[in-house]
Parts: sequence; C-alpha cells; structure tokens
Amino acid sequence: MQELNIIAKSIEENLDVPRISSETNEPGFLGKVYIESYGCQMNFADSEVVTSILINKGYGTTSNIQDADTILLNTCAIRENAEQKIRHRLQTFKALKTKNPKVTIGILGCMAERLKTQLIEEEKLVDLVAGPDSYRDLPNLLDQIENGQKAINVFLSKEETYGDIEPVRLHTNGVSAFVSIMRGCDNMCSFCVVPFTRGRERSRDVASILNECEHLFEQGYREVNLLGQNVDSYRWIDPATKEIITFDKLIQLTAQINPDLRIRFSTSHPKDITNEVLHAMAAYPNICKNIHLPAQSGSNRILELMNRTYSREWYLDRISAIREILGPECGISHDIIAGFCTETDEDHRDTLDLLDSVVFDFGYMFTYSERPGTPAAKKLRDDVPDHIKSKRLQEIIDLQRKHSGIRNDQMIGKIQRVLVEGNSKKSDQHHFGKTDNNKVVVFKKGSETIGSYVDVKITSCTTGTLLGQLI
Ligand code: SAH
Ligand code: SF4
Ligand code: F3S
Repeated sequence: MQELNIIAKSIEENLDVPRISSETNEPGFLGKVYIESYGCQMNFADSEVVTSILINKGYGTTSNIQDADTILLNTCAIRENAEQKIRHRLQTFKALKTKNPKVTIGILGCMAERLKTQLIEEEKLVDLVAGPDSYRDLPNLLDQIENGQKAINVFLSKEETYGDIEPVRLHTNGVSAFVSIMRGCDNMCSFCVVPFTRGRERSRDVASILNECEHLFEQGYREVNLLGQNVDSYRWIDPATKEIITFDKLIQLTAQINPDLRIRFSTSHPKDITNEVLHAMAAYPNICKNIHLPAQSGSNRILELMNRTYSREWYLDRISAIREILGPECGISHDIIAGFCTETDEDHRDTLDLLDSVVFDFGYMFTYSERPGTPAAKKLRDDVPDHIKSKRLQEIIDLQRKHSGIRNDQMIGKIQRVLVEGNSKKSDQHHFGKTDNNKVVVFKKGSETIGSYVDVKITSCTTGTLLGQLI
C-alpha cells in the first residue's frame, strides 16, 4: 500500500508499477522463486495465491532476483504500454540468463492469457506461460521445464476461484489485506481486454471468504479489501439452504466478523450498484464510506459505444443516491478514458462537465489504448490522434486535481477515525493511516501502535494528503 495518495495518477504512475514480493524466509527444497506483479489489485492478490501454491509444493521465495531459480512476472494487458513495460523488463533478464542458463523465466497473468504461445515464440527468454486460471498447475509446469521443455497452460475455467487456498501475504503492511471474492467479468465493455484474459465471471463461496477474513483479523489485520471486477454482481447460492447471498449480504456478513475490522471493496459498476448495498454500508460503521465508481465518459454517445449500459443521467442518479444514503462525506472516485473512438470535443466537454457535477475525491485517468480482439478494436476506429488524447487527458487530470483539493479542504477541522498503517515515508516521527473515506492522513506520533485506531483532527491538506493532530 502506498503511503501518499498521489492525486491524479495515470495508470503508468500507478497500477503498472511493479511490486516485488517481500522475503518470506521459506527455505524451500525445489529452489527459490522471485515474483514481480503488475496491473490491478487482483493481480497482486493472485501473486499471493501463486506463492502459496508454490510454497506448499516445496518452493522457497526470495526478494533478490539474483538469488532466484525461478523468476515469475505476473502481468497486465489492460493497455499497450502495460505490455511494453513487460517486454522491456524481459530484456533486462538477458544478462541473468547468460550468467545462469538454468534460471526459469515465467509469464503469468493477463498478458500470458492474451498472447498465449505467441509470447513463447516472440520472447525466447520465456520458458513458461500461465494464464490466471492455471495457477494450480504451476508446479507441474515447472516440472516440465526441469525436463527441458517449454510449458504453457492458458485454459480459462468457469469455476476456479482458488477459494480454498490461503494466500501468502506479500503486498501488505500487516494491517490491510486483499481478499478476492470473484473472478472474471461478463460485461464486455467494448474497450476492455479483461473478459478475454480472465474469462467468465464467477463468485467465490461465501464461507471461504468469511474464513479468510476471520483468519486475517485473528492475525492482527484490521482492514480487508474485497476484490472483483464488478463486486455488485457477486452472487453465491448456498448449496444446503439454497439461500442467495448477494453483495449487500456479503458485506454485512463480513462486517459482522468484528466491529474493528474495516471493510473496503472495489470495483463497483454503476449499472449494478444497488440502494441495498448503500443501505448495508450505512448500517455498519466498519464498512468504509468510499466507493470507486468508474464513469469512463460523461457523454451518452460514447458510453453507448463503450457498451457500458448506463447513461450519464443514470450515473448521476447513483451519485445522488450515494450522497443521500451515505452522506456528503462519502469518498467517491472514478476511472475516465480520454480519447475513445470517435470522441469529439463536445463529448470531451461532457466528461469535464460530469466531473464538475460530481466533484470526485479522486480518479484514475487514462488515454484510450486499443486492445486487439476487443469489440471496439473490431468495430470502431481508434481515430482520435495521440496529441488530442493527451491534451484531453491533461485537462481531465487538472480538473480532478482541483476537485481533490476542494474535497480535501472540506475535511479541515473535522475529527476522523484513522486506522494507523505505518510510519510516514518522509519522517519517522510521523505515522500515516486512512480515514473512513479513504484519505491518507499524516500525523505526529503518540503512543499508538500500527494497526490501532486513533482520532485525528484534520488541520491542513495538500491535493493528495491530509495532515492532522492526534486528539
Ligand atoms: N472492472 C473495472 C475496471 C477494470 S480495468 C470497471 O469496470 O470499472 C481498470 C480501468 O482501466 C477501467 O476502468 C478503464 O478506465 C481502464 N481501461 C480499460 N481498458 C482500457 C483501454 N483499452 N484503454 C484505456 N484504458 C482502459
Ligand atoms: Fe472491463 Fe467492463 Fe469488465 Fe470492468 S466491467 S473489467 S471495464 S469489461
Ligand atoms: Fe490488468 Fe488483468 Fe488487472 S489486464 S488491470 S491485470 S485484470
């Protein structure tokens, strides 16, 4: 988790930044694995599942690439530059492979799934390609390589959720953890590669989710982040009672584990987020009042071409419902794509106007990147020139920065319950933590420990961070 919430991040500054597993000190008799993760939180959660599978089979882990027998890159395919980053990273492994020809290089995740055998053909360094649903097969695939073959498994499953696997926490501060509640996506937004790289949507069984969260609480974690591409369509039917558990029920059950366990989730889809979910959030103080609700565009014409299945009016109605049911302080963030196929200046102005109407706390903003095989790539022309895409993106980022400043200013003078997550990066005299509505707060240390809750009075802010004092 990042300490400072840098406002107006583009994906390049945010999700595509690799994170490296920390040392887990598992000795392992089958050699040491080094894993680097790119992309969204789901990929980071998957790397924790992969690590668990490999450790159970007798592998060890290392955070030192020079020390590794197996190097795994868990990749993202969401935009072209995410894939280019991996190609460049692979080049840097040439020297390693020359020095130690026995080192295995494997590509996991969405880029592996998208490119399949093409990746092995094009990138001679790569020994192994494994898609997101094939991680249980990794030990077998690694055995094949031991026998001198290349190994590939890119089958997508309709059932796999890895529900029974206890992840080995890699991307953690010991306070907050990712918990995957579903996989895949059935939405087919026209620009998006995810339905092709992660397959059909499926929900994980409720008991395994609750067990994992309970166990995390017992281990000292105080926040769980429930992950799915479209959490609002979570649906699990209890085989014994036939009871249907929808997302609003799931968050209530998770919140009941302990009042000191904070519940966050992402991503919500505007077409699916119901008032039941909002009422469930309102009923439990430990369900954090923060919603990530990607808009993608403010123009109805573009939303239709994107196959988002909602209109600007529908989106604004959801925002009103959020503020009515959860109050004006509820954090709301968005994703926007600038320069989608056929986008005109007027469409772009509609997007800026949507931002002005909502005044979001935060946003992830991107230029459109055509992904081969997606409905948009097949049916539409990527016809907005790059310099226009970039100009529009910059205008969106600038406006969001202004809005984040306004929203943060509104917090000044308020007392906030903050979950302490660690030392401030800039000073070991300060702690940082997050408010209920997901804002990072830095404050001078008192006697509190990491993982405890404190009340902090907000005294000032930047566009990215709140500063406060313990009370
Ligand atoms: N499931 C989530 C988002 C998953 S991808 C949702 O439905 O909102 C994260 C974000 O990447 C998307 O919200 C979108 O803004 C962006 N994105 C996806 N495909 C893209 C593409 N081809 N070009 C640019 N941005 C893209
Ligand atoms: Fe992609 Fe749309 Fe699914 Fe999100 S909801 S993962 S943007 S297809
Ligand atoms: Fe990337 Fe796959 Fe996530 S494409 S954004 S890692 S689901």
